[in-house]
Amino acid sequence: MDQLKKEGIIILDFGSQYTQLIARRIREFNVYSEVVPPEIDLNSIKEKNPRAIILSGGPSSVFSDDAPAFDINILDTDIPILGICYGLHLLVHHSFGIVNSTGKGEYGFTEVDFLKGNLITEHMSDKSNVWMSHMDQVTKVPDNWEVIAKSSNGVVAGLINRKQNRIATQFHPEVSHTREGGQLLKNFIFKIAKCEKNWTPSNFIQEQVKKIKEKSVDENILIGVSGGVDSTVMACLINMSVGKKCTAVLIDHGMLRKAEAKNCVNTLKKDLGIDVHIFDESNLFFSRLAGITDPEKKRKVIGDQFIKSFDRIACEFGDFGLLGQGTLYPDIIESGVSASKSAHVIKSHHNVGGLPNDLKFGLIEPLKDLFKDEVRAVGKQLGISDELIFRHPFPGPGLGVRIIGEVTRKRASMLQEADHIYMEILKEKGEYENIWQAFAVLIPVKTVGVMGDQRTYENLIALRAVTSVDGMTADWYKMPYEVLSEISSQIVNNVKGINRVVYDVTSKPPGTIEWE
Ligand code: XMP
Repeated sequence: MDQLKKEGIIILDFGSQYTQLIARRIREFNVYSEVVPPEIDLNSIKEKNPRAIILSGGPSSVFSDDAPAFDINILDTDIPILGICYGLHLLVHHSFGIVNSTGKGEYGFTEVDFLKGNLITEHMSDKSNVWMSHMDQVTKVPDNWEVIAKSSNGVVAGLINRKQNRIATQFHPEVSHTREGGQLLKNFIFKIAKCEKNWTPSNFIQEQVKKIKEKSVDENILIGVSGGVDSTVMACLINMSVGKKCTAVLIDHGMLRKAEAKNCVNTLKKDLGIDVHIFDESNLFFSRLAGITDPEKKRKVIGDQFIKSFDRIACEFGDFGLLGQGTLYPDIIESGVSASKSAHVIKSHHNVGGLPNDLKFGLIEPLKDLFKDEVRAVGKQLGISDELIFRHPFPGPGLGVRIIGEVTRKRASMLQEADHIYMEILKEKGEYENIWQAFAVLIPVKTVGVMGDQRTYENLIALRAVTSVDGMTADWYKMPYEVLSEISSQIVNNVKGINRVVYDVTSKPPGTIEWE
């Protein structure tokens, strides 16, 4: 383990929907944090040499048979521990206090009184609103523990064991609804765990360059780029680490945005001095996608063909032992490969779920611990232009997951045209930078229209635009009507085969950002 990670905070994920949020909050304070499975043993934790451990919330009860496995030796160390919700129950239960299911839970906003005179509640109000989501509660405080917060319902909301540096909260300090949750986390991170602010883009770059150099001593690296911010930052990091030992290729699967392949090659060369070789593999992709309508099957086929194409290209170019990928942390979480077994597979992201077990390459994924906004901060530090850094994210399977139903060359080019008009108008009207991600979707539904006195019976385009911080949650963008109106009429007037445009007003959750 590298120096940087030794000074971070390890989060044991007991399956809370907020676990990733804890990691983000800590990183926002420039402190490294890592989410690990709940069954991790003490030795593996010690190898990471963390400054503190956080026990997350989770859906289980400490009494239930299916409570996640947990190495109780962790509680005997002198590493500071913060238990949140289920984490509080665990700490209390194993310190011979009593946690009970009284049948009366607390959900949502609750007013809490904080008791002062300790580091964890410093600079906090005497009374504040917190976010609760629990069934079980503490009915007997263990010996050597003191109550530091009590809810207006009389429930124990926070505890401290000063001697052992243990803190526990029944509420969730990581969610924004807990008004002073940030202050409480800050107190824990800096006053109790005594962390240093060393998780910064420039430290990250230094660390990755060192790692990439070490990993590639005897190997050449093949990098796949797409023109998006993730693969550009990844390519830039690898290129600055190993220079000529890496070769960048762009596989054109026929489902890129209009003129994307050419634009990507030009920008990487002009701005970053990276040569990119384009391979037009679209025939292969379209023929393998023929007749497939199931979204997961499409993703798997596209991911599989990617690897096959890379394999072939690697042989054509020479001797490559490593494949560079722009995988991010959310890609890993949403493909269900996260720390917690309780994470559900929402979608298999093509750069994760589609990989075969007998992969011939070793993988280099320098961004796999980062959230999107962290990648952007690293990109900025690397001197990549704002235009590229603030480009909307584009998924690996490309327009393949935006063409509902069968993916064909004809349908892909219809969508490319509509999407291009949409993007151009957003840029022209100054709306592009207000939006986190925008794109058009081709729907396999024909509707009746009338153009120049002629009846039409053509396809439907849905416009999607969302605001988000990291793509994990999103809200639909309140687009001005006149902009929507201009986009709609330009698409219907200029794209053959489209006679109707609709706007998607679904947030995530319950929807996802992409339609497939
Ligand atoms: P969803 O649709 O899951 O998307 O809400 C969240 C973010 O992830 C992007 N996305 C992908 N990115 N490979 C990628 O590299 C994929 O297979 C993939 N699927 C979705 C999506 O565009 C959004 O930004």
